[in-house]
Amino acid sequence: MTLTLNVNGKSSTVTVSDGGMPLLWVLRDLLGLTGTKYGCGIEVCGACTVLVDGQPERSCDFDVSSAVGRKIVTIEGLSTNRSHPAQQAWIANQVPQCGYCQSGMLMAVAGAMNAGQHGANIMGEVNNLCVCGTYGRIKSACAKL
Ligand code: FES
Ligand code: FES
Repeated sequence: MTLTLNVNGKSSTVTVSDGGMPLLWVLRDLLGLTGTKYGCGIEVCGACTVLVDGQPERSCDFDVSSAVGRKIVTIEGLSTNRSHPAQQAWIANQVPQCGYCQSGMLMAVAGAMNAGQHGANIMGEVNNLCVCGTYGRIKSACAKL
């Protein structure tokens, strides 16, 4: 089947064998947006987090057919020049270590900000996992948002 998706403000047409294909596969394998990562595949780690209509979703368990008519934003679309306040705070606090979890982490933080959270409250909305254990720096970065 052919589906039209709105990803990062652009309309993209994809052909999938099954509407139940995870949005993550479509983003990475069909649209080449590899900033969104695969971690656990079972909605636990958050590495695959994207925004759907402004709110964070685990794209590893989000049917692509459910994404039709919604606004999808990936890390590539969060800003064109790292100017999103969360990206700026991440840079200022040198948050990433290996970086694998960080795009999902940033999207979760951006989603919490969209929901009106600020400062320390942001972390209450973010339950993504970081194997490198950058939580202290994440907390410091969020404290300034
Ligand atoms: S890969 Fe989706 S939550 Fe871990
Ligand atoms: S920075 Fe390495 S997993 Fe989070």
